[in-house]
Amino acid sequence: MSDFQLDVLKKLGELGEIKSTLKTFSDKDSQEVLSALNSLKAHSKLNYTKHDTILYELSAEGTDILNNGSHEMKLLKLVQEVGNLKISDVNAKLGKDGKLGQARAFKNGWIKKNENNELEVNDKIKGENEVKDTTQIELQTVVDGKADTLDKNTVNDLKKRKLITPKKLTDFEVVKGEQFSLEIKKLETDITSDMIVSGNYKDLEFKPYNFNSQGLEVQSGALHPLSKVREEFRQIFFSMGFTEMPTNQYVETGFWNFDALYVPQQHPARDLQDTFYIKDPKTADLPEDKTYLENIKAVHEGGKFDTIGYRYPWKQEESQKLVLRTHTTAISAAMLHKLAKDPKPTRLFSIDRVFRNEAVDATHLAEFHQVEGVLADYNITLGDLIKFMEEFFAKMGVTGLKFKPTYNPYTEPSMEIFSWHEGLGKWVEIGNSGMFRPEMLEPMGLPRGLRVLGWGLSLERPTMIKYKVQNIRELLGHKVSLDFIESNPAARLDEDLYD
Ligand code: PHE
Repeated sequence: MSDFQLDVLKKLGELGEIKSTLKTFSDKDSQEVLSALNSLKAHSKLNYTKHDTILYELSAEGTDILNNGSHEMKLLKLVQEVGNLKISDVNAKLGKDGKLGQARAFKNGWIKKNENNELEVNDKIKGENEVKDTTQIELQTVVDGKADTLDKNTVNDLKKRKLITPKKLTDFEVVKGEQFSLEIKKLETDITSDMIVSGNYKDLEFKPYNFNSQGLEVQSGALHPLSKVREEFRQIFFSMGFTEMPTNQYVETGFWNFDALYVPQQHPARDLQDTFYIKDPKTADLPEDKTYLENIKAVHEGGKFDTIGYRYPWKQEESQKLVLRTHTTAISAAMLHKLAKDPKPTRLFSIDRVFRNEAVDATHLAEFHQVEGVLADYNITLGDLIKFMEEFFAKMGVTGLKFKPTYNPYTEPSMEIFSWHEGLGKWVEIGNSGMFRPEMLEPMGLPRGLRVLGWGLSLERPTMIKYKVQNIRELLGHKVSLDFIESNPAARLDEDLYD
C-alpha cells in the first residue's frame, strides 16, 4: 500500500467520509487520486463518486483588478480628483487602463463628456463617493469559490474579458467500503491445489473477479485481401449462374495457351521476352483428340473452315512446348473443347494466377491473377456481350462503361472495357473482352450457331483500389506484411471500387 493510499484510509477513518478529495488532498492531481481510489476500491476498502467541477483562475489582469480596482474605477477616481479631464490626458495618466476603463465607465453612467470634449463625473453620482466596483466584487466572488452564485452572463463576460480562465477539476466523494480497515491484506488471485489440500483457502482472501478487464487478443489466421476480393467475384459469378473452371495447373502446353486460341506460332506474345518457358521437362503430349489436332493445324495454315488462316507451316513441336500459362483463357479453351462433346448454353468462370515475363514495377509483377468469364449460347451477338458486361460490372458497383475496339487473336470483335475514374479524372481500362472466333471454336467441333463470348480482368487492380495499395508488391510476394493482412476489413466490391 502506498503512503498516499494509507493517508486516504486514515482520513476516511477520521472523518467517516471524504466530501472532496480536491480540498482534502489539494497537492495531488486527480489522476493520482483516481488510481489510489481504484486500487482501494478493488479491495472493498471504500467507494467513491466522481464529480467534475469547473474552477476559475484569475488572469494577471484579473488579479490586478482584484487588488487595485477596475480600470473604470481608476478612471472615475481620476476624474473625481481632477474635476474635468481632457480625453487626451486619459492615456497620459492611466495608459492602456484608461482606455479600457472609458467604455465601461460610460456604460455604468459614471462619467460623461461635456461640451469641451472633457470627461466629468455624471451628475447623478456627484457627491456619492461609494460607487460599487462591480468588476472587482465579481472577481472577489470568483476567488471565494462562489462563481456559481454569479449569473451565467456575468461569468461569460469575465471570461470574454480574459479576467478569469476556467479549469476543469475532477473531485471525488469517498465513503467507507464493506472491508474498510487501515491495512490491506494481500489478496490471492488463484486458488492452488496446495490451498485445497491444506484447507487454508478458507482463511485466505481472494481478489474479486474483474469482469471489465479485457482478455488477451486472440491470434488467428486471416484472409489475404486478394482472397477476399476473389471471393466477392466468385459470389457475383455464382449469382449469375456460372460454374467454376478447374484452373489448378500453372503449366500448360503452348497448344492450349496459344494454338487452340488461334495465336500463330510466330506471334510476338510467344517470344521468350513475354512468356516463361519450362526447361525441364521441356515438352508434353498434346490432346488425344486427333481430329482436333488436325483441325488446329488446318485452321492455322488456312485449309479448312472457310478461313484463309495464317498460311505458314504449323509445327506440332512448337505447340508441345511447356509454358507458365500467360492467361486463364488456356483453361477456357480446354473447357470449350470439352463442351463440344455435348454442346449447350454454358456459363464458366475462373479466377487464378497467370505469369508474364514483364519488367516488375509498382503496378506490374511477373505474376498476377485473372478473373475470366466465358458464356456460350445460341445466336448471341456483340450487343449481348455489351449488355452482359454492363450487368456484370454493375454488380461490382461499376456503371457507365465505355467500349473500345481492340485486337485479340482469339476474339473478333474484341473490346476493351473502360470505366470513368473519379479520382484520376480519366477513363481507365478495367477489362478485355470479345466474341471467340470461329477459327477457335469450329476446330473443336462446336456448332456454328453456338457462339461464345468471353472477358478477362485482373484481380489485383480492383483489390489495390479497394484497399488503397499503391505498390503491388505490398499485395503479392515476400514483401507483404502480415499486419496488413490481419487488419484489413472484408471486401465490399459494390462500394467505391473504381473511384
Ligand atoms: N485473355 C485475355 C487477357 O489476357 C482476356 C480475355 C478473355 C479476352 C476472354 C477476351 C476473351 O487479357
